[in-house]
Amino acid sequence: MTNETNDGGKQDSKRENRRYVPHLAEFYFKPTHDWSAADAERLYQRTENVRDDLKLDTVFFEDCITGMREVPKGGVDLVIADPPFGIEFDGKSGAYNRDGNLVVDGYEEIDGDYPAFSESWIGEAARLLKRTGSMYIFSGWNNLEFVLRGARLAGLHLLNHLVWQYQFGVFTKRRFVSSHYHILLLVKDEDNYFFNKLENYPQDVWRIKRSYRAGQSKNSTKLPLKLVQKCIDYSSAPGHIVLDPFMGNGTTAVAAKGAWRHFIGFEMNLQMEELMASNLAKVRPGQFYTPYSTRLPSIEALAKKYPKAYREYLKRENQKDKE
Ligand SMILES: C[S@@+](CC[C@H](N)C(=O)[O-])C[C@H]1O[C@@H](n2cnc3c(N)ncnc32)[C@H](O)[C@@H]1O
Repeated sequence: MTNETNDGGKQDSKRENRRYVPHLAEFYFKPTHDWSAADAERLYQRTENVRDDLKLDTVFFEDCITGMREVPKGGVDLVIADPPFGIEFDGKSGAYNRDGNLVVDGYEEIDGDYPAFSESWIGEAARLLKRTGSMYIFSGWNNLEFVLRGARLAGLHLLNHLVWQYQFGVFTKRRFVSSHYHILLLVKDEDNYFFNKLENYPQDVWRIKRSYRAGQSKNSTKLPLKLVQKCIDYSSAPGHIVLDPFMGNGTTAVAAKGAWRHFIGFEMNLQMEELMASNLAKVRPGQFYTPYSTRLPSIEALAKKYPKAYREYLKRENQKDKE
């Protein structure tokens, strides 16, 4: 038997082109959606599709559960929520002192009411989401079960259980140091949701450094901007509306504004108002935005990293030119 064909070897070359070569796909990868800077700005400025009962680019200084009840349903594209009770929670901020409530000065006092708290806020946030919308919820491991329960009761579907790994955790003597956070990616409709695949192989462990803010204990729960930007980039488009029920320092607002997205937020702690306003004033709309394809490694960089795949890439490109 011979491999000879009477098609001038076309079959053989097709077979060769289908052969799996590690990392070759990276040379061909393109984001699912992309926008030029001008198109992104146009989408941001366009308000004809935005309902006039939504107060865009506003943070309300009130309890998010009560506040979200006032917001009409189904207008938000993405929720990013980092609820109280993080592993670095310091319990000093004024918001944790509201009477008769769940979050009173520290972990222990939250425990009892945490399931009800999670159920309420996740239920309200899910109500505000559009059918195609997504929600990222940050959680330490201690209360994760209640967050998962709240999401299930709200009818959300769990797409990913991401892990944010940071570079340091609190020193321990008789157990492992916690140096990760859970991030749940949930959607309303698992058959129809917005997802912009921005890398060929986007893994579910995100290694992003925590920003160290010495001497500013009340901001100790601030998320790194990069982390929030990643959620926004993958799960929303320019002009989309991002809701954060627990704004804290305003990280989500800053990330949204800088990415040509709109935001709506809630924060109970009035002491954060000034800091948040100053954080927001420092960023121009679209300041961080560049088309997604320009953020990918160049062919030259890939060639250096994966020489074997590069040789194969060149071979296939030459072959294409001949056909
Ligand atoms: C973990 S922090 C969020 C930090 C934020 N992601 C950042 O990067 O700055 C949680 C925030 O939720 C606020 N908070 C707690 N209970 C709240 C409630 N019921 N409604 C609105 N905000 C609340 C707290 O004051 C705190 O600022």
